[in-house]
Amino acid sequence: MNSETLFNRIGGMPAVTAAVDVFYTKILADEEVSHFFKDTNISAQSPKLKAFLAYAFGAPMQYSGKNMRDAHRHMQIDEKQFNAVAGHLVATLDELGVAQQLIGEVVDIAMSVKGDIMNN
Ligand code: HEM
Repeated sequence: MNSETLFNRIGGMPAVTAAVDVFYTKILADEEVSHFFKDTNISAQSPKLKAFLAYAFGAPMQYSGKNMRDAHRHMQIDEKQFNAVAGHLVATLDELGVAQQLIGEVVDIAMSVKGDIMNN
């Protein structure tokens, strides 16, 4: 177990910020999931996702947004849609040159909230 947080190993807030920006571009270009975000103000949403990811990756900060179950309640996100979004996150990190080992750790974190996000 590496004692450095995933957040630090991935490159801290600049890396998370770059990832979220690329990630949303991919989501909005994907017809499988873009309709979920048709009423979303992306400039208001991005800081929430940045804060959540930083926190989930072990940054020493508080996350004061909604938990993942409440944030996605009534959206009826199915497994295919969840996997599409998770795939965009992996592709984003890959494009930004994040090491495969670290991407694997991010995928583990994403999978740990899958049950909260889907079909609720
Ligand atoms: C690992 C996967 C995911 C993470 C970490 C994540 C994270 C978040 C966060 C932090 C928020 C903001 C919560 C708040 O308002 O405080 C949010 C909202 C939202 N998420 Fe996700 N999400 C994930 C997967 C998905 C998927 C698969 C979809 C749809 C296919 C989705 C659609 C949305 C939408 C539509 C909102 C609300 C945006 C708005 O307020 O307009 N999310 N998500």
